[in-house]
Amino acid sequence: MNLVGDGGLARQIRDVIDSFNCYSISCGGPVQESKAWLVAFASLDSLEKREEAYDLLQLEYKTIGTLISPKATVSPTARIEQGGVILHDAFIGPGASLDVNVLVGTRAVVEHGSLIGQHSVVLTGAIVNGGVNIGCRVMIGSGAIILQDVAICDDVKIGAGSIITKNITEPGVYVGVDQWLKHIL
Ligand SMILES: CC(C)(COP(=O)(O)OP(=O)(O)OC[C@H]1O[C@@H](n2cnc3c(N)ncnc32)[C@H](O)[C@@H]1OP(=O)(O)O)[C@@H](O)C(=O)NCCC(=O)NCCS
Repeated sequence: MNLVGDGGLARQIRDVIDSFNCYSISCGGPVQESKAWLVAFASLDSLEKREEAYDLLQLEYKTIGTLISPKATVSPTARIEQGGVILHDAFIGPGASLDVNVLVGTRAVVEHGSLIGQHSVVLTGAIVNGGVNIGCRVMIGSGAIILQDVAICDDVKIGAGSIITKNITEPGVYVGVDQWLKHIL
């Protein structure tokens, strides 16, 4: 297993791995044959770094596993691509689709039919409502709420506790609630 990062998030991931003997490794066939590696990219400083690390490891190992906490609830109709990490008590609803290397944090929610793009992270307690479309390398900060059917473009960071009710079409860092939403960077 390769665990990149040693911050709080990496330690949460480690907890999932250490506490349970039943994490699942999937994608690409049997572990022995595919040499599947479980990869958890924890870096939040730069989501581009998550992408770079993922690409490098994929070149080396071809197949990358997923880590799904046994305490998480994942709908049988949800799709989680390789490199996915789902932490304790997260909920992934029916028809939700997580592209490669997506991390869903402790108690975070991705509701029915939502799409999360490559290398994106939905952090502790954040809620992505139904029908949301999130791009690549997007960070949804702790406790943020994305309302139903909202679309967020690539390379966006949503600050902790923000509530997003409208589409975001420009990359950048956004914090706040609805009408006084600030584009700070
Ligand atoms: C949005 C975020 C990425 C911005 O970080 P940053 O670029 O370092 O920004 P700064 O801390 O310099 O803050 C810039 C301004 O935005 C404000 N701000 C930052 N985050 C905010 C938030 N979540 N809600 C409201 N205002 C926020 C700051 O008060 C500051 O305002 P000011 O210019 O009036 O003083 C970061 O604050 C954040 O929310 N990260 C999420 C962290 C998280 O969820 N971690 C979970 C780890 S498991």
